[in-house]
Amino acid sequence: MKLCHFTDLFDLSSHDARNLLARAVALKAEDRAGHRTAILQGRTLGLLFEKPSLRTRVSFEAAIARLGGSAIFLRGKDVGLGVRESTADFARVISQYVDVLAVRTFSQRTIDELARHASVPIVNALSDTAHPCQAMADVLTIHEEFGRVEGLKVVFVGDGNNVARSLALATTLLGAKFVLASPRGYEFPGDFQLGFAERFLGVPLVFEHDPARAVDAADVVYTDVWASMGQEHEAEDRRRSFAPFQVDAALMKHAKPSAILLHCLPARRGEEVVSDVLDGPQSRVIPQAANRLHFQKALLCRLLGV
Ligand code: CP
Ligand code: NVA
Repeated sequence: MKLCHFTDLFDLSSHDARNLLARAVALKAEDRAGHRTAILQGRTLGLLFEKPSLRTRVSFEAAIARLGGSAIFLRGKDVGLGVRESTADFARVISQYVDVLAVRTFSQRTIDELARHASVPIVNALSDTAHPCQAMADVLTIHEEFGRVEGLKVVFVGDGNNVARSLALATTLLGAKFVLASPRGYEFPGDFQLGFAERFLGVPLVFEHDPARAVDAADVVYTDVWASMGQEHEAEDRRRSFAPFQVDAALMKHAKPSAILLHCLPARRGEEVVSDVLDGPQSRVIPQAANRLHFQKALLCRLLGV
């Protein structure tokens, strides 16, 4: 089946997820062997970012460059989506210039509206409620580490945010057991829980409020900042609520000895995770960041039908 857009993992089948991962593995192996083929020569990727980025912007630009294409970066302020011109007009016009558009924005509704009006594929490069490219790179990292994703226990310690939601979807699509460990009131919102229940009939979405119990026998411990971009005004309150959820050596001891630590980065060292763990032997955060590049190469090829 054709994959038209990549806006949220709710739309992805397990079959698509596995195919994308297999393609990413193959492209990574070719890349590592020094075989870079210009299969996207002449193709242009647009990037519209309304929030800051290091990994997502650079890995997308590098991904299209390594496959022979080129990227055009647009700052949100310059485009003025919904201010300088309507989102629909922007979508129709940008479709005349680029072959695929990745967007980082606040509301998921903006991404969905772009997808409705664009005639080129739209990729979610992070919204307030989803970070699907991150989650797919994360399951690639987990697969590389354990040779499978199915049956593993993946525990996200922190806020039920964009990264956590996409991770819950990606890991469940591939048959892992997902647990969210958060303070009360920071679980996934009702609409996400409902969507998850409809998408994965009978699969429980497990919430824990005791981080040590949550992490017990985990294969993967994952964390992210307590206050996401756009929530800076809540940072002080969140620091208090999330303090017992810091990932440190004591918490990691509850996981399996073979467990790995993942973090989408950027990290706030000394808040959600301590440096000893982030830089320690169980951390895979740098290969995880590298995998953004390889997954996104696979995604661009798939969306462009190559
Ligand atoms: N993990 C991630 O998306 O990083 P950036 O915000 O730097 O793109
Ligand atoms: N949850 C974080 C992820 C950054 C990559 C945020 O949205 O700011």
